[in-house]
Amino acid sequence: MNKRPAAATSVVYGRLWRYVTPHKLIGVIAVVSMAATAIVEAGLVALLKPLMDETIVARSLETAKWISLAFVGIFIARGIAGFGTEVSLGYIGRSVISDLRRQVFGKFLTLPAKFFDAQAAGPLLSRMTYNVEMVAESVTSVVTIAVRDVLTVFAAFGVMLYWSPTLTMYVMIVFPIVALIVRLLGIAFRRYSNRIQQSLGDVSQVTDEIVRGNWVVKAFNGYEYEQARLDEADGRNRKQNLKLINVRALGVAVTQLVFGLSIALVVYVAGRLSAQNSLTAGEFISFFAAMMLMLQPVRRITNVNAALQRGVAAADSLFAIMDEGDEEDQGTVEIDRVKGNVRFASVGFSYGDKNGPVLQNIDLEVRSGQTLAIVGHSGSGKSTLVSLLPRFYELDSGDISIDGTSIKDLTLASLRDNISLVTQDVVLFNDTMANNLAYGQLGDCPEEDLLRAAEAAHVLDFANEMPDGLDTMVGDRGILLSGGQRQRIAIGRALLKNAPILILDEATSSLDTRSERRIQEALNELMKNRTTLVIAHRLSTVENADQIIVLHDGGIVESGTHAELIAKNGHYAALHRMQFSSETSSE
Ligand SMILES: Nc1ncnc2c1ncn2[C@@H]1O[C@H](COP(=O)(O)OP(=O)(O)O)[C@@H](O)[C@H]1O
Ligand SMILES: [Mg+2]
Repeated sequence: MNKRPAAATSVVYGRLWRYVTPHKLIGVIAVVSMAATAIVEAGLVALLKPLMDETIVARSLETAKWISLAFVGIFIARGIAGFGTEVSLGYIGRSVISDLRRQVFGKFLTLPAKFFDAQAAGPLLSRMTYNVEMVAESVTSVVTIAVRDVLTVFAAFGVMLYWSPTLTMYVMIVFPIVALIVRLLGIAFRRYSNRIQQSLGDVSQVTDEIVRGNWVVKAFNGYEYEQARLDEADGRNRKQNLKLINVRALGVAVTQLVFGLSIALVVYVAGRLSAQNSLTAGEFISFFAAMMLMLQPVRRITNVNAALQRGVAAADSLFAIMDEGDEEDQGTVEIDRVKGNVRFASVGFSYGDKNGPVLQNIDLEVRSGQTLAIVGHSGSGKSTLVSLLPRFYELDSGDISIDGTSIKDLTLASLRDNISLVTQDVVLFNDTMANNLAYGQLGDCPEEDLLRAAEAAHVLDFANEMPDGLDTMVGDRGILLSGGQRQRIAIGRALLKNAPILILDEATSSLDTRSERRIQEALNELMKNRTTLVIAHRLSTVENADQIIVLHDGGIVESGTHAELIAKNGHYAALHRMQFSSETSSE
Protein backbone atom coordinates (compact mmCIF):
# COMPACT_ATOMS: atom_id res chain seq x y z
CA MET A 1 0.00 0.00 0.00
CA ASN A 2 1.31 3.42 -0.84
CA LYS A 3 1.54 5.80 2.04
CA ARG A 4 -0.77 8.63 1.16
CA PRO A 5 0.29 12.07 2.30
CA ALA A 6 -1.62 13.62 5.17
CA ALA A 7 -4.60 15.64 4.01
CA ALA A 8 -5.06 19.30 4.85
CA THR A 9 -7.01 20.08 7.99
CA SER A 10 -9.78 21.85 6.12
CA VAL A 11 -10.18 18.95 3.71
CA VAL A 12 -10.45 16.45 6.54
CA TYR A 13 -12.90 18.59 8.44
CA GLY A 14 -14.92 19.14 5.30
CA ARG A 15 -15.17 15.41 4.89
CA LEU A 16 -16.08 14.90 8.52
CA TRP A 17 -18.77 17.50 8.22
CA ARG A 18 -20.66 15.14 5.93
CA TYR A 19 -21.06 12.75 8.84
CA VAL A 20 -22.70 15.48 10.88
CA THR A 21 -25.07 16.92 8.27
CA PRO A 22 -27.56 14.02 8.34
CA HIS A 23 -28.35 15.06 11.91
CA LYS A 24 -29.41 18.60 11.03
CA LEU A 25 -32.38 18.77 13.37
CA ILE A 26 -30.41 17.54 16.36
CA GLY A 27 -27.65 19.90 15.30
CA VAL A 28 -30.03 22.83 15.42
CA ILE A 29 -31.13 21.80 18.92
CA ALA A 30 -27.49 21.63 19.95
CA VAL A 31 -26.67 25.06 18.55
CA VAL A 32 -29.76 26.64 20.09
CA SER A 33 -28.99 25.05 23.46
CA MET A 34 -25.41 26.23 23.34
CA ALA A 35 -26.41 29.73 22.34
CA ALA A 36 -28.93 29.77 25.17
CA THR A 37 -26.25 28.68 27.63
CA ALA A 38 -23.99 31.51 26.53
CA ILE A 39 -26.73 34.12 26.75
CA VAL A 40 -27.97 32.91 30.10
CA GLU A 41 -24.49 32.96 31.60
CA ALA A 42 -23.89 36.46 30.33
CA GLY A 43 -27.31 37.43 31.71
CA LEU A 44 -26.20 36.17 35.08
CA VAL A 45 -23.19 38.43 35.24
CA ALA A 46 -25.13 41.34 33.76
CA LEU A 47 -27.56 41.06 36.66
CA LEU A 48 -24.78 41.66 39.15
CA LYS A 49 -24.86 45.38 38.38
CA PRO A 50 -28.49 45.99 39.48
CA LEU A 51 -28.02 43.49 42.29
CA MET A 52 -25.13 45.51 43.59
CA ASP A 53 -26.18 49.09 42.88
CA GLU A 54 -29.94 48.86 43.27
CA THR A 55 -30.30 46.36 46.10
CA ILE A 56 -27.22 46.27 48.27
CA VAL A 57 -26.03 49.86 47.84
CA ALA A 58 -29.56 51.30 47.63
CA ARG A 59 -30.87 48.89 50.34
CA SER A 60 -34.03 48.09 48.34
CA LEU A 61 -36.10 44.96 48.99
CA GLU A 62 -38.27 45.48 45.90
CA THR A 63 -35.39 45.06 43.48
CA ALA A 64 -34.05 42.14 45.49
CA LYS A 65 -37.34 40.31 44.83
CA TRP A 66 -37.27 40.55 41.08
CA ILE A 67 -33.58 39.82 40.93
CA SER A 68 -34.11 36.67 43.00
CA LEU A 69 -36.85 35.60 40.63
CA ALA A 70 -34.63 36.36 37.67
CA PHE A 71 -31.93 34.16 39.19
CA VAL A 72 -34.37 31.26 39.50
CA GLY A 73 -35.41 31.71 35.87
CA ILE A 74 -31.82 31.90 34.73
CA PHE A 75 -30.83 28.71 36.49
CA ILE A 76 -33.82 26.83 35.12
CA ALA A 77 -32.95 28.01 31.61
CA ARG A 78 -29.33 27.10 32.16
CA GLY A 79 -30.27 23.61 33.30
CA ILE A 80 -32.47 23.01 30.26
CA ALA A 81 -29.90 24.41 27.86
CA GLY A 82 -27.09 22.39 29.42
CA PHE A 83 -29.14 19.21 29.20
CA GLY A 84 -30.03 19.95 25.58
CA THR A 85 -26.39 20.54 24.70
CA GLU A 86 -25.09 17.37 26.33
CA VAL A 87 -27.75 15.09 24.92
CA SER A 88 -27.80 16.44 21.38
CA LEU A 89 -24.02 16.61 21.01
CA GLY A 90 -23.73 13.16 22.57
CA TYR A 91 -26.21 11.84 20.04
CA ILE A 92 -24.34 13.34 17.11
CA GLY A 93 -20.99 12.11 18.45
CA ARG A 94 -22.20 8.55 18.89
CA SER A 95 -23.77 8.60 15.42
CA VAL A 96 -20.52 9.75 13.87
CA ILE A 97 -18.71 6.94 15.70
CA SER A 98 -21.15 4.31 14.46
CA ASP A 99 -21.07 5.57 10.89
CA LEU A 100 -17.30 5.68 10.76
CA ARG A 101 -16.95 2.29 12.37
CA ARG A 102 -19.43 0.66 10.03
CA GLN A 103 -17.76 2.20 7.01
CA VAL A 104 -14.25 1.20 8.01
CA PHE A 105 -15.45 -2.31 8.84
CA GLY A 106 -17.24 -2.50 5.51
CA LYS A 107 -14.04 -1.40 3.85
CA PHE A 108 -12.05 -4.09 5.63
CA LEU A 109 -14.47 -6.61 4.17
CA THR A 110 -13.89 -5.49 0.60
CA LEU A 111 -10.18 -4.63 0.64
CA PRO A 112 -7.98 -6.96 -1.38
CA ALA A 113 -5.77 -9.57 0.28
CA LYS A 114 -2.77 -7.51 -0.76
CA PHE A 115 -3.76 -4.72 1.56
CA PHE A 116 -3.76 -7.01 4.57
CA ASP A 117 -0.46 -8.61 3.55
CA ALA A 118 1.17 -5.20 3.80
CA GLN A 119 -0.36 -4.14 7.11
CA ALA A 120 0.12 -5.11 10.71
CA ALA A 121 -3.17 -5.98 12.34
CA GLY A 122 -2.67 -3.96 15.54
CA PRO A 123 -2.83 -0.48 14.04
CA LEU A 124 -5.84 -1.52 11.97
CA LEU A 125 -7.63 -2.69 15.09
CA SER A 126 -6.80 0.43 17.07
CA ARG A 127 -8.22 2.58 14.31
CA MET A 128 -11.54 0.81 14.75
CA THR A 129 -11.50 1.44 18.47
CA TYR A 130 -9.36 4.38 19.58
CA ASN A 131 -9.22 6.55 16.47
CA VAL A 132 -12.94 6.37 15.84
CA GLU A 133 -13.69 7.52 19.39
CA MET A 134 -11.09 10.24 19.02
CA VAL A 135 -12.83 11.64 15.96
CA ALA A 136 -16.17 11.94 17.70
CA GLU A 137 -14.63 13.43 20.79
CA SER A 138 -12.90 15.97 18.65
CA VAL A 139 -16.00 16.82 16.63
CA THR A 140 -18.10 17.39 19.73
CA SER A 141 -15.51 19.42 21.57
CA VAL A 142 -14.68 21.52 18.54
CA VAL A 143 -18.37 22.22 17.95
CA THR A 144 -18.86 23.08 21.61
CA ILE A 145 -15.93 25.44 21.56
CA ALA A 146 -16.85 26.98 18.24
CA VAL A 147 -20.44 27.64 19.27
CA ARG A 148 -20.86 27.79 23.01
CA ASP A 149 -17.49 29.17 24.02
CA VAL A 150 -17.25 31.68 21.22
CA LEU A 151 -20.78 32.90 21.92
CA THR A 152 -20.03 33.10 25.63
CA VAL A 153 -17.01 35.25 24.92
CA PHE A 154 -19.07 37.52 22.69
CA ALA A 155 -21.90 37.75 25.20
CA ALA A 156 -19.53 38.47 28.06
CA PHE A 157 -17.85 41.02 25.88
CA GLY A 158 -21.26 42.58 25.25
CA VAL A 159 -21.87 42.84 28.99
CA MET A 160 -18.50 44.48 29.49
CA LEU A 161 -19.06 46.92 26.70
CA TYR A 162 -22.51 47.72 28.01
CA TRP A 163 -21.41 48.55 31.54
CA SER A 164 -18.09 50.19 30.78
CA PRO A 165 -16.85 50.91 27.24
CA THR A 166 -13.72 52.54 28.57
CA LEU A 167 -12.59 49.53 30.57
CA THR A 168 -13.42 47.29 27.63
CA MET A 169 -11.09 49.20 25.40
CA TYR A 170 -8.20 48.47 27.71
CA VAL A 171 -9.05 44.75 27.80
CA MET A 172 -9.07 44.61 24.02
CA ILE A 173 -5.32 45.14 23.94
CA VAL A 174 -5.01 41.56 25.13
CA PHE A 175 -6.93 39.94 22.29
CA PRO A 176 -4.25 39.88 19.61
CA ILE A 177 -1.79 38.38 22.06
CA VAL A 178 -4.18 35.54 22.85
CA ALA A 179 -4.79 34.97 19.14
CA LEU A 180 -1.07 34.67 18.53
CA ILE A 181 -0.68 32.08 21.28
CA VAL A 182 -3.55 30.05 19.79
CA ARG A 183 -1.80 29.95 16.43
CA LEU A 184 1.59 28.97 17.73
CA LEU A 185 0.22 26.13 19.83
CA GLY A 186 -1.79 24.64 17.01
CA ILE A 187 1.25 23.76 14.96
CA ALA A 188 2.65 21.45 17.62
CA PHE A 189 -0.62 19.73 18.35
CA ARG A 190 -1.17 17.83 15.11
CA ARG A 191 2.32 16.42 15.03
CA TYR A 192 2.01 14.97 18.53
CA SER A 193 -1.51 13.70 17.94
CA ASN A 194 -0.35 11.85 14.87
CA ARG A 195 2.50 10.19 16.72
CA ILE A 196 0.30 9.30 19.67
CA GLN A 197 -2.11 7.46 17.43
CA GLN A 198 0.68 5.60 15.66
CA SER A 199 2.32 4.48 18.85
CA LEU A 200 -1.01 3.32 20.18
CA GLY A 201 -1.34 1.12 17.11
CA ASP A 202 2.02 -0.41 17.96
CA VAL A 203 0.89 -1.05 21.51
CA SER A 204 -2.15 -2.98 20.25
CA GLN A 205 0.03 -4.86 17.79
CA VAL A 206 2.42 -6.13 20.44
CA THR A 207 -0.41 -6.96 22.81
CA ASP A 208 -2.36 -8.78 20.12
CA GLU A 209 0.70 -10.82 19.23
CA ILE A 210 1.48 -11.97 22.76
CA VAL A 211 -2.15 -12.83 23.34
CA ARG A 212 -2.33 -14.96 20.21
CA GLY A 213 1.20 -16.26 20.50
CA ASN A 214 1.30 -16.87 24.22
CA TRP A 215 2.57 -20.42 23.68
CA VAL A 216 5.54 -19.24 21.71
CA VAL A 217 6.30 -16.56 24.27
CA LYS A 218 6.21 -19.14 27.04
CA ALA A 219 8.15 -21.81 25.16
CA PHE A 220 10.95 -19.46 24.16
CA ASN A 221 10.98 -17.47 27.39
CA GLY A 222 10.21 -14.42 25.33
CA TYR A 223 9.05 -12.39 28.31
CA GLU A 224 11.86 -9.87 28.38
CA TYR A 225 11.85 -9.47 24.63
CA GLU A 226 8.11 -8.85 24.55
CA GLN A 227 8.27 -6.55 27.55
CA ALA A 228 10.97 -4.57 25.80
CA ARG A 229 8.84 -4.31 22.66
CA LEU A 230 5.93 -3.03 24.69
CA ASP A 231 8.13 -0.62 26.63
CA GLU A 232 9.38 0.71 23.33
CA ALA A 233 5.94 1.29 21.86
CA ASP A 234 4.40 2.45 25.11
CA GLY A 235 7.39 4.65 25.88
CA ARG A 236 6.91 6.41 22.57
CA ASN A 237 3.23 6.81 23.32
CA ARG A 238 3.98 8.23 26.76
CA LYS A 239 6.61 10.60 25.45
CA GLN A 240 4.37 12.03 22.76
CA ASN A 241 1.48 12.33 25.18
CA LEU A 242 3.69 14.16 27.64
CA LYS A 243 4.83 16.52 24.92
CA LEU A 244 1.23 17.23 24.06
CA ILE A 245 0.37 17.78 27.72
CA ASN A 246 3.36 20.10 28.11
CA VAL A 247 2.44 22.23 25.15
CA ARG A 248 -1.16 22.36 26.25
CA ALA A 249 -0.26 23.27 29.83
CA LEU A 250 2.15 25.90 28.61
CA GLY A 251 -0.60 27.36 26.49
CA VAL A 252 -2.93 27.52 29.48
CA ALA A 253 -0.30 29.03 31.73
CA VAL A 254 0.62 31.73 29.22
CA THR A 255 -3.00 32.56 28.52
CA GLN A 256 -3.67 32.86 32.22
CA LEU A 257 -0.69 35.07 32.72
CA VAL A 258 -1.89 37.35 29.96
CA PHE A 259 -5.28 37.32 31.58
CA GLY A 260 -3.84 38.10 34.98
CA LEU A 261 -1.97 41.08 33.60
CA SER A 262 -5.12 42.38 32.01
CA ILE A 263 -6.96 41.99 35.31
CA ALA A 264 -4.29 44.04 37.01
CA LEU A 265 -4.70 46.65 34.32
CA VAL A 266 -8.48 46.63 34.73
CA VAL A 267 -8.28 47.03 38.48
CA TYR A 268 -5.94 49.97 38.10
CA VAL A 269 -8.02 51.69 35.44
CA ALA A 270 -11.22 50.94 37.39
CA GLY A 271 -9.75 52.64 40.42
CA ARG A 272 -9.06 55.77 38.40
CA LEU A 273 -12.50 55.73 36.77
CA SER A 274 -14.29 55.39 40.08
CA ALA A 275 -12.22 58.20 41.52
CA GLN A 276 -13.59 60.32 38.66
CA ASN A 277 -17.05 59.04 39.59
CA SER A 278 -17.54 57.44 36.19
CA LEU A 279 -17.80 53.81 37.42
CA THR A 280 -20.18 52.43 40.03
CA ALA A 281 -19.45 49.47 42.28
CA GLY A 282 -22.10 47.42 40.47
CA GLU A 283 -20.66 48.22 37.07
CA PHE A 284 -17.25 47.15 38.20
CA ILE A 285 -18.51 43.88 39.74
CA SER A 286 -20.50 43.05 36.61
CA PHE A 287 -17.59 43.92 34.39
CA PHE A 288 -15.19 41.88 36.45
CA ALA A 289 -17.52 38.88 36.55
CA ALA A 290 -17.95 39.05 32.78
CA MET A 291 -14.22 38.97 32.40
CA MET A 292 -13.99 35.98 34.67
CA LEU A 293 -16.73 34.30 32.70
CA MET A 294 -14.51 34.62 29.66
CA LEU A 295 -11.57 32.90 31.25
CA GLN A 296 -12.66 29.28 30.77
CA PRO A 297 -13.98 29.70 27.23
CA VAL A 298 -10.87 31.59 26.17
CA ARG A 299 -8.77 28.82 27.65
CA ARG A 300 -10.68 26.26 25.68
CA ILE A 301 -10.48 28.33 22.52
CA THR A 302 -6.71 28.43 22.95
CA ASN A 303 -6.80 24.65 23.09
CA VAL A 304 -9.25 24.14 20.28
CA ASN A 305 -6.37 23.27 18.04
CA ALA A 306 -5.41 20.33 20.23
CA ALA A 307 -8.88 18.89 19.97
CA LEU A 308 -9.11 19.79 16.30
CA GLN A 309 -5.79 18.31 15.33
CA ARG A 310 -6.33 15.16 17.35
CA GLY A 311 -9.56 14.64 15.49
CA VAL A 312 -8.04 15.52 12.14
CA ALA A 313 -5.19 13.09 12.62
CA ALA A 314 -7.61 10.35 13.67
CA ALA A 315 -10.11 11.06 10.92
CA ASP A 316 -7.42 11.19 8.28
CA SER A 317 -6.17 7.76 9.31
CA LEU A 318 -9.71 6.45 8.81
CA PHE A 319 -10.21 8.23 5.52
CA ALA A 320 -6.90 6.79 4.33
CA ILE A 321 -8.40 3.33 4.76
CA MET A 322 -11.62 4.34 3.06
CA ASP A 323 -9.64 5.70 0.11
CA GLU A 324 -7.91 2.38 -0.49
CA GLY A 325 -9.01 0.62 -3.64
CA ASP A 326 -11.50 -2.19 -3.23
CA GLU A 327 -11.01 -5.63 -4.68
CA GLU A 328 -11.44 -5.37 -8.41
CA ASP A 329 -14.90 -6.57 -9.25
CA GLN A 330 -15.64 -5.32 -12.72
CA GLY A 331 -16.92 -8.60 -14.06
CA THR A 332 -20.55 -8.61 -15.08
CA VAL A 333 -21.18 -12.25 -15.92
CA GLU A 334 -23.31 -13.93 -13.30
CA ILE A 335 -22.92 -17.65 -13.58
CA ASP A 336 -25.13 -19.96 -11.65
CA ARG A 337 -23.28 -23.22 -11.34
CA VAL A 338 -20.26 -23.81 -13.53
CA LYS A 339 -19.35 -27.13 -15.11
CA GLY A 340 -15.84 -26.62 -13.83
CA ASN A 341 -13.45 -26.64 -16.79
CA VAL A 342 -10.53 -24.69 -15.39
CA ARG A 343 -7.77 -23.32 -17.56
CA PHE A 344 -4.63 -21.35 -16.73
CA ALA A 345 -3.05 -19.75 -19.81
CA SER A 346 0.51 -18.40 -19.45
CA VAL A 347 -0.23 -17.16 -15.96
CA GLY A 348 2.43 -15.00 -14.35
CA PHE A 349 2.23 -13.56 -10.85
CA SER A 350 4.29 -11.74 -8.25
CA TYR A 351 3.37 -10.41 -4.83
CA GLY A 352 4.86 -7.03 -5.54
CA ASP A 353 7.46 -5.26 -7.60
CA LYS A 354 10.14 -5.79 -5.00
CA ASN A 355 9.83 -9.56 -4.86
CA GLY A 356 10.51 -11.41 -8.06
CA PRO A 357 7.86 -13.39 -9.90
CA VAL A 358 6.40 -16.22 -7.86
CA LEU A 359 4.73 -17.92 -10.81
CA GLN A 360 5.77 -17.81 -14.43
CA ASN A 361 4.16 -19.15 -17.56
CA ILE A 362 1.74 -21.50 -15.92
CA ASP A 363 -0.33 -23.41 -18.45
CA LEU A 364 -2.70 -26.05 -17.27
CA GLU A 365 -6.12 -27.42 -17.83
CA VAL A 366 -8.43 -29.36 -15.55
CA ARG A 367 -11.52 -30.84 -17.13
CA SER A 368 -14.81 -30.77 -15.32
CA GLY A 369 -14.94 -33.34 -12.54
CA GLN A 370 -11.26 -34.22 -12.78
CA THR A 371 -8.56 -33.90 -10.18
CA LEU A 372 -5.33 -32.03 -10.58
CA ALA A 373 -2.67 -32.58 -7.95
CA ILE A 374 0.04 -30.00 -7.41
CA VAL A 375 3.24 -31.10 -5.75
CA GLY A 376 6.52 -29.36 -5.13
CA HIS A 377 8.82 -28.22 -2.39
CA SER A 378 7.60 -25.77 0.17
CA GLY A 379 7.81 -22.25 -1.21
CA SER A 380 7.53 -23.39 -4.81
CA GLY A 381 4.28 -21.46 -5.27
CA LYS A 382 1.58 -24.11 -4.82
CA SER A 383 -0.62 -22.10 -2.47
CA THR A 384 -0.13 -19.01 -4.56
CA LEU A 385 -1.25 -20.87 -7.67
CA VAL A 386 -4.53 -22.02 -6.18
CA SER A 387 -5.21 -18.65 -4.53
CA LEU A 388 -5.40 -17.08 -7.97
CA LEU A 389 -8.47 -19.05 -8.94
CA PRO A 390 -10.83 -17.37 -6.43
CA ARG A 391 -9.07 -14.10 -7.39
CA PHE A 392 -7.56 -13.42 -3.98
CA TYR A 393 -4.82 -11.76 -6.02
CA GLU A 394 -4.77 -10.26 -9.51
CA LEU A 395 -2.62 -11.78 -12.21
CA ASP A 396 0.37 -10.00 -13.67
CA SER A 397 -0.02 -11.72 -17.00
CA GLY A 398 -1.99 -14.46 -18.70
CA ASP A 399 -5.52 -15.47 -17.91
CA ILE A 400 -7.54 -17.99 -15.94
CA SER A 401 -10.86 -19.14 -17.27
CA ILE A 402 -13.68 -21.32 -16.06
CA ASP A 403 -15.86 -22.96 -18.72
CA GLY A 404 -14.24 -20.64 -21.23
CA THR A 405 -15.10 -17.41 -19.41
CA SER A 406 -12.24 -15.40 -17.98
CA ILE A 407 -12.58 -15.16 -14.20
CA LYS A 408 -12.16 -11.39 -14.57
CA ASP A 409 -15.45 -11.25 -16.44
CA LEU A 410 -17.32 -13.02 -13.68
CA THR A 411 -18.64 -11.16 -10.68
CA LEU A 412 -16.54 -11.98 -7.64
CA ALA A 413 -19.58 -13.26 -5.80
CA SER A 414 -20.60 -15.72 -8.47
CA LEU A 415 -17.01 -16.84 -9.01
CA ARG A 416 -16.49 -17.54 -5.33
CA ASP A 417 -19.89 -19.17 -4.97
CA ASN A 418 -18.53 -21.86 -7.26
CA ILE A 419 -15.40 -22.59 -5.28
CA SER A 420 -14.93 -24.42 -2.00
CA LEU A 421 -11.66 -23.95 -0.24
CA VAL A 422 -9.95 -25.94 2.49
CA THR A 423 -6.60 -24.55 3.52
CA GLN A 424 -3.79 -25.64 5.74
CA ASP A 425 -4.31 -22.92 8.35
CA VAL A 426 -7.96 -23.33 9.07
CA VAL A 427 -9.55 -20.16 10.31
CA LEU A 428 -12.60 -20.77 12.44
CA PHE A 429 -14.72 -18.04 13.92
CA ASN A 430 -15.48 -17.66 17.59
CA ASP A 431 -18.82 -19.40 17.32
CA THR A 432 -20.31 -22.88 17.59
CA MET A 433 -19.11 -25.80 15.48
CA ALA A 434 -22.48 -25.87 13.74
CA ASN A 435 -22.25 -22.21 12.77
CA ASN A 436 -18.69 -22.66 11.59
CA LEU A 437 -19.78 -25.56 9.42
CA ALA A 438 -22.62 -23.56 7.95
CA TYR A 439 -20.53 -20.40 7.60
CA GLY A 440 -21.76 -18.22 4.76
CA GLN A 441 -25.19 -19.80 4.67
CA LEU A 442 -26.27 -19.07 8.22
CA GLY A 443 -29.94 -19.44 8.76
CA ASP A 444 -30.86 -21.29 5.58
CA CYS A 445 -28.97 -24.51 6.12
CA PRO A 446 -31.27 -27.49 6.76
CA GLU A 447 -30.41 -29.45 9.88
CA GLU A 448 -30.09 -32.77 8.03
CA ASP A 449 -27.57 -31.31 5.53
CA LEU A 450 -25.53 -30.03 8.40
CA LEU A 451 -25.54 -33.40 10.11
CA ARG A 452 -24.69 -35.23 6.90
CA ALA A 453 -21.70 -32.98 6.28
CA ALA A 454 -20.58 -33.27 9.90
CA GLU A 455 -20.86 -37.04 9.67
CA ALA A 456 -18.99 -37.31 6.37
CA ALA A 457 -16.17 -35.04 7.55
CA HIS A 458 -15.94 -37.10 10.75
CA VAL A 459 -16.78 -34.02 12.80
CA LEU A 460 -19.45 -35.94 14.67
CA ASP A 461 -16.77 -38.34 15.94
CA PHE A 462 -15.49 -35.71 18.31
CA ALA A 463 -18.49 -33.39 18.46
CA ASN A 464 -20.60 -36.11 20.06
CA GLU A 465 -18.12 -36.42 22.88
CA MET A 466 -18.47 -32.76 23.75
CA PRO A 467 -21.14 -31.62 26.20
CA ASP A 468 -22.98 -29.41 23.73
CA GLY A 469 -22.29 -31.49 20.61
CA LEU A 470 -22.25 -29.38 17.48
CA ASP A 471 -23.31 -26.39 19.54
CA THR A 472 -19.98 -26.35 21.36
CA MET A 473 -18.10 -23.08 21.02
CA VAL A 474 -14.75 -23.42 19.25
CA GLY A 475 -13.04 -20.42 20.85
CA ASP A 476 -11.05 -17.63 19.28
CA ARG A 477 -9.85 -18.88 15.89
CA GLY A 478 -10.93 -22.38 16.96
CA ILE A 479 -8.31 -22.54 19.71
CA LEU A 480 -10.35 -25.00 21.76
CA LEU A 481 -10.03 -27.66 19.06
CA SER A 482 -7.05 -29.63 17.84
CA GLY A 483 -5.54 -28.87 14.45
CA GLY A 484 -7.04 -32.05 13.04
CA GLN A 485 -10.46 -31.23 14.42
CA ARG A 486 -10.31 -27.79 12.90
CA GLN A 487 -9.42 -29.28 9.55
CA ARG A 488 -12.32 -31.68 9.74
CA ILE A 489 -14.67 -28.76 10.34
CA ALA A 490 -13.16 -26.98 7.35
CA ILE A 491 -13.73 -30.07 5.22
CA GLY A 492 -17.30 -30.29 6.49
CA ARG A 493 -17.75 -26.63 5.62
CA ALA A 494 -16.59 -27.31 2.07
CA LEU A 495 -18.87 -30.36 1.83
CA LEU A 496 -21.80 -28.28 2.90
CA LYS A 497 -21.03 -25.52 0.44
CA ASN A 498 -21.23 -28.09 -2.33
CA ALA A 499 -19.47 -25.98 -4.93
CA PRO A 500 -18.45 -27.49 -8.31
CA ILE A 501 -14.81 -26.52 -7.89
CA LEU A 502 -12.83 -27.61 -4.89
CA ILE A 503 -9.44 -26.44 -3.69
CA LEU A 504 -7.65 -28.52 -1.09
CA ASP A 505 -4.45 -26.86 0.07
CA GLU A 506 -2.80 -29.38 2.38
CA ALA A 507 -6.23 -29.96 3.77
CA THR A 508 -5.16 -32.99 5.77
CA SER A 509 -1.75 -31.81 6.90
CA SER A 510 -2.78 -31.66 10.56
CA LEU A 511 -4.16 -35.19 10.59
CA ASP A 512 -2.21 -38.26 11.50
CA THR A 513 -2.01 -41.00 8.92
CA ARG A 514 -4.84 -43.01 10.40
CA SER A 515 -7.29 -40.10 10.64
CA GLU A 516 -6.21 -39.01 7.23
CA ARG A 517 -7.20 -42.37 5.77
CA ARG A 518 -10.61 -42.07 7.35
CA ILE A 519 -11.00 -38.51 6.16
CA GLN A 520 -9.76 -39.55 2.78
CA GLU A 521 -13.04 -41.35 2.23
CA ALA A 522 -14.85 -38.13 3.02
CA LEU A 523 -12.54 -36.29 0.69
CA ASN A 524 -13.03 -38.83 -2.07
CA GLU A 525 -16.73 -38.35 -1.62
CA LEU A 526 -16.23 -34.60 -1.72
CA MET A 527 -14.05 -34.76 -4.85
CA LYS A 528 -16.46 -36.94 -6.78
CA ASN A 529 -17.93 -35.05 -9.74
CA ARG A 530 -16.07 -31.91 -8.82
CA THR A 531 -13.13 -30.21 -10.41
CA THR A 532 -10.49 -30.48 -7.74
CA LEU A 533 -7.14 -28.78 -7.30
CA VAL A 534 -5.37 -30.63 -4.53
CA ILE A 535 -2.10 -29.85 -2.83
CA ALA A 536 -1.04 -32.65 -0.54
CA HIS A 537 2.11 -33.15 1.41
CA ARG A 538 1.54 -36.88 1.48
CA LEU A 539 1.95 -38.20 -1.99
CA SER A 540 -0.31 -41.16 -1.33
CA THR A 541 -3.18 -38.70 -1.56
CA VAL A 542 -2.22 -37.57 -5.03
CA GLU A 543 -1.57 -40.94 -6.60
CA ASN A 544 -5.10 -41.27 -7.90
CA ALA A 545 -5.24 -37.80 -9.39
CA ASP A 546 -6.07 -37.58 -13.11
CA GLN A 547 -3.11 -35.33 -13.59
CA ILE A 548 -0.15 -34.30 -11.46
CA ILE A 549 2.01 -31.22 -11.95
CA VAL A 550 5.31 -30.60 -10.23
CA LEU A 551 6.06 -26.97 -9.40
CA HIS A 552 9.60 -25.83 -9.02
CA ASP A 553 10.63 -22.19 -8.57
CA GLY A 554 7.28 -21.00 -9.84
CA GLY A 555 7.23 -23.04 -13.02
CA ILE A 556 5.77 -26.38 -14.00
CA VAL A 557 8.66 -28.77 -14.47
CA GLU A 558 6.73 -32.00 -14.94
CA SER A 559 3.21 -33.15 -15.53
CA GLY A 560 1.43 -36.42 -16.12
CA THR A 561 -0.22 -39.23 -14.20
CA HIS A 562 1.39 -40.98 -11.28
CA ALA A 563 2.45 -43.94 -13.42
CA GLU A 564 3.82 -41.72 -16.17
CA LEU A 565 5.82 -39.59 -13.77
CA ILE A 566 7.23 -42.56 -11.89
CA ALA A 567 8.27 -44.05 -15.18
CA LYS A 568 9.90 -40.77 -16.15
CA ASN A 569 12.05 -41.02 -13.05
CA GLY A 570 12.42 -37.24 -12.63
CA HIS A 571 11.40 -34.75 -9.90
CA TYR A 572 8.21 -36.51 -8.97
CA ALA A 573 9.83 -39.89 -8.72
CA ALA A 574 12.48 -38.42 -6.45
CA LEU A 575 9.87 -36.77 -4.22
CA HIS A 576 7.96 -40.01 -4.13
CA ARG A 577 10.98 -42.03 -3.14
CA MET A 578 11.82 -39.62 -0.35
CA GLN A 579 8.29 -39.66 0.95
CA PHE A 580 8.02 -43.41 0.74
CA SER A 581 11.10 -43.98 2.84
CA SER A 582 10.03 -41.48 5.48
CA GLU A 583 6.52 -42.94 5.63
CA THR A 584 7.72 -46.46 6.16
CA SER A 585 10.16 -45.40 8.84
CA SER A 586 7.55 -43.38 10.73
CA GLU A 587 4.86 -46.05 10.75
N1 LIG B 1 1.29 -12.92 0.94
C1 LIG B 1 2.52 -13.00 0.45
N2 LIG B 1 3.24 -11.90 0.19
C2 LIG B 1 4.47 -11.97 -0.32
N3 LIG B 1 5.09 -13.10 -0.63
C3 LIG B 1 4.45 -14.27 -0.42
C4 LIG B 1 3.13 -14.27 0.14
N4 LIG B 1 2.73 -15.55 0.24
C5 LIG B 1 3.75 -16.31 -0.23
N5 LIG B 1 4.78 -15.55 -0.63
C6 LIG B 1 6.03 -16.03 -1.25
O1 LIG B 1 5.68 -16.70 -2.45
C7 LIG B 1 6.42 -17.88 -2.60
C8 LIG B 1 5.50 -19.07 -2.80
O2 LIG B 1 4.78 -19.28 -1.62
P1 LIG B 1 3.61 -20.36 -1.51
O3 LIG B 1 2.74 -20.22 -2.69
O4 LIG B 1 2.98 -20.21 -0.19
O5 LIG B 1 4.42 -21.72 -1.60
P2 LIG B 1 3.96 -23.20 -1.23
O6 LIG B 1 2.50 -23.21 -0.99
O7 LIG B 1 4.37 -23.99 -2.41
O8 LIG B 1 4.74 -23.59 -0.04
C9 LIG B 1 7.31 -18.00 -1.38
O9 LIG B 1 8.59 -17.58 -1.76
C10 LIG B 1 6.72 -17.05 -0.39
O10 LIG B 1 7.73 -16.44 0.37
MG1 LIG C 1 1.43 -23.67 0.75
